[in-house]
Amino acid sequence: MSSTDLIQFSYLVAAVLFILGLRNLSSPKTAALGNQMAAVGMLIAIVATLMVQGVVDYTLIVAGIVVGGLIGGVTALRIKMTDMPQMVALLNGFGGAASVLVAGAEVSSRITAGDVPTGIIPGAIVASVLIGGVTLTGSLIAFAKLQELMRGAPIQYPAQQYINALLALGTVAACFFLGMAPLDPQLFGLLVGLALLLGILLVIPIGGADMPVVIALLNSYSGLAACATGFVLDNSALVISGSLVGASGLILTKIMCDAMNRSLANVLFGAFGAVDASAAAGGEGVDQGTATAYTPIDAAVIFSNARSVIVVPGYGMAVAQAQHAVRELTDTLADNGIEVNFAIHPVAGRMPGHMNVLLAEADVPYERLVEMDEINPQFPETDVALVLGANDVVNPAAREDESSPIYGMPVLEVDRAQHVFVIKRSMNPGFAGIQNPLFFKDNTMMIFGDAKKVVIELNDAVKNY
Ligand code: TAP
Repeated sequence: MSSTDLIQFSYLVAAVLFILGLRNLSSPKTAALGNQMAAVGMLIAIVATLMVQGVVDYTLIVAGIVVGGLIGGVTALRIKMTDMPQMVALLNGFGGAASVLVAGAEVSSRITAGDVPTGIIPGAIVASVLIGGVTLTGSLIAFAKLQELMRGAPIQYPAQQYINALLALGTVAACFFLGMAPLDPQLFGLLVGLALLLGILLVIPIGGADMPVVIALLNSYSGLAACATGFVLDNSALVISGSLVGASGLILTKIMCDAMNRSLANVLFGAFGAVDASAAAGGEGVDQGTATAYTPIDAAVIFSNARSVIVVPGYGMAVAQAQHAVRELTDTLADNGIEVNFAIHPVAGRMPGHMNVLLAEADVPYERLVEMDEINPQFPETDVALVLGANDVVNPAAREDESSPIYGMPVLEVDRAQHVFVIKRSMNPGFAGIQNPLFFKDNTMMIFGDAKKVVIELNDAVKNY
């Protein structure tokens, strides 16, 4: 077997491992194995790539691996679970930057060698620069919004759509001309500039609440950019892994849009959150009635007499890191013969699977996590719904109030349970910035405080009841 055959064979093995890894990632039981398989696949792909004859000097490559590996490793260890979306945004952006840089390096080496690219390569260079550039700056804006380095509200200005359309037209023209003359450095620089600007202008009008969807989309873009770069370099492993990232990112984007009952166009161009949403869905100025405040000791009476409890976790559980305390509370309830399940909304928290990850970390049995469509019919027969740091995903305005910005979004129907306890620190709204009529319903009792602290107190109170 020649070294080229060996490299191609290794790429094939890597691709199979990527696909099997993705398949295993679809269930929490096999997800860790899936992750390991994909990591082994990536190792094989990297080793095979290092065997490519075009590599003339390993010093820079090794230095890059050491420095990049160190920065990545330390950041991954230190990052808080609640900051994970920003981290993903940043990593997507770096992926986009890599595609632009590789395309630039390829163009520059071909200029030196006088080797004009033909066939699919000019198109691949254009796609690498365009998608990579948009991904880079779009991801940096998404990062800045989530990290609160810039304001999360949609940034709008007069004639915005026209300016964007004009810029898009200019970009299409630059793509065409660079495709015709792929070794023209001025055209290359122009397309880089336009793509970077487009990334900024496309993401600033999108509100902070929609950033997780934007991040999933940019993740898909970073895959497509890598795929295009794979064609530039004639590297099949990059083409395959890029397509996998591109396709899975798009599927995830669609799942998230469906979970919010919104189209992708509405997320990208709808400037959700730009209007004063509190006026709709009964915000300040609209009399909602009075909310009833309970203490954990009061609540323990109802919990102790319940036969069934559904816990509804949300972003607040992540902020408070209350997952272990919740597991302990549910153990106590189960010891008292109470049936406990967890209701998982697809967009609870700030990233896909956020609640599943936290509850798995606290060893909550996976069978206890029930998805929205399956658990909603169970609420009317449930004695207690315990809403833990969740807000938008349990907002009945999505069902009842046609003027609400979240009207039509599928929600967990907790208000249909006999009793509802809501643990949160204040009456402040959730991520969508809208008030929640649930808090004012007759069967709802608020327990104000940090989710972890309240759950520990509630557990003690139930034990001592
Ligand atoms: P949110 O609606 O954001 O509500 C979280 C609540 O947690 C807040 O009202 C906050 O109230 C409370 N909280 C914060 N820290 C707390 C603490 N330490 N202890 C107790 N409570 C605390 O969360 P959700 O219901 O999970 O909804 C997720 C939102 O993100 C939705 O709007 C969804 O559309 C959006 N979103 C998510 C995704 C994904 S993939 N997850 C994607 C796109 C959009 P206090 O400040 O009063 O405590």
